[in-house]
Amino acid sequence: MFRSAQHDKARSVASPRVVNIEDLRRAAKRRLPQVVFDYIDGGAEDERTLRANCRAFEDVTFRPRCAVATPACDLGVSVLGRSLSMPLILAPVGSSRLMYPRGEEVAASAAGAAGIAYALSTLSGCRLEDVAAASKGTVWYQLYLVGGRDCALAAIEHAKAAGFSALVVTIDTAVAGMRERDLRNGAKELLSGNLRSKLPFVAQLLIRPRWLAGFLADGGLMKFQNVVIPGKGPMLYADVTAALENAVVTWEDLGWIRRAWSGPIVIKGIHTADDARRAVDVGANALVVSNHGGRQLDSVAPTLRILPEVVAGVGDQIEVLLDGGIRRGSDIVKALCLGARAVMAGRAYAYGLGAAGGAGVARAIEILRADLIRTLKLLGCPSVAELDRSYVDTPADWLGK
Ligand code: GLV
Repeated sequence: MFRSAQHDKARSVASPRVVNIEDLRRAAKRRLPQVVFDYIDGGAEDERTLRANCRAFEDVTFRPRCAVATPACDLGVSVLGRSLSMPLILAPVGSSRLMYPRGEEVAASAAGAAGIAYALSTLSGCRLEDVAAASKGTVWYQLYLVGGRDCALAAIEHAKAAGFSALVVTIDTAVAGMRERDLRNGAKELLSGNLRSKLPFVAQLLIRPRWLAGFLADGGLMKFQNVVIPGKGPMLYADVTAALENAVVTWEDLGWIRRAWSGPIVIKGIHTADDARRAVDVGANALVVSNHGGRQLDSVAPTLRILPEVVAGVGDQIEVLLDGGIRRGSDIVKALCLGARAVMAGRAYAYGLGAAGGAGVARAIEILRADLIRTLKLLGCPSVAELDRSYVDTPADWLGK
């Protein structure tokens, strides 16, 4: 029965009606309870940055070279010394197990099968060893200092032993952003309240019986398996908000992390050229121009808009990645034209995960790959390596134009 429900899900995202990421978003909305869908879909406060991230891609227009044959387009790229089949990394998405049973494992497996990298969030429900084992490709571990340095050190050592090849340190989460949708949907009460406080919010779970059956069969509300508090065990959901407030990552911590982890470090959450230079100084190997998908400080500039400033600030001293607003392969192309080596995407695959598990993640990757090839051919560009500023126009007030 469960198996045939899975099969139905796989078929649902293979349907000819699912042609873009927005279709996967709608499918996720149909399968998930409001509180889980809004956790993926929502952002901070007025969601200005969330919308601006997407809109910035509309402000950049293409300058194609027509009548150019590009029989085979080369999408391959090397990021931190690893070859990826296309310039896409699945960004860390917390609590993926609420979206689909064994969410982090199935997403990592789909990424590995597609030849791209997967970044596992500290705030995940699956053990990092199981996630590494589920992927036949590159896996990165994203670190928050929740639980303190000893706890982080244990996770770093486990990640290294399990084969994670890079550590992603997120620096924009001094406190959790104000996600108003989560408050209205009762996320706090459902995750950590008593029965009485949960009651006004449970109907949204009960009207999604397929999701609920999968969630319960997967063990119900998970703990954060990779945040093991000495003497206490894995961190509970109820403790995470307070833990994040005590876990701000400072530049001093980044120096400590640099000494604790000998492999490549990616600093995620760069908004300015100044911070990009600090990332270089602290010994990072890559940075992500990121505003956490508009989930943290609202009203910061969209990432695509500041990418040129960051690239101009650090040159080729560090690999520059971008996330925020990626919904189409043409968005990836625009980011590469403006100097990103590759992009990370969170929501684009989380919608697929919420809609249909691993099959949905695979479909999201496939959609973006097909988009990328088509866009390169229409641009008259044979490979992602050859994309540059000459293929786009940006508004006159964007820096460096
Ligand atoms: C966690 O990092 C989130 O954005 O929810």
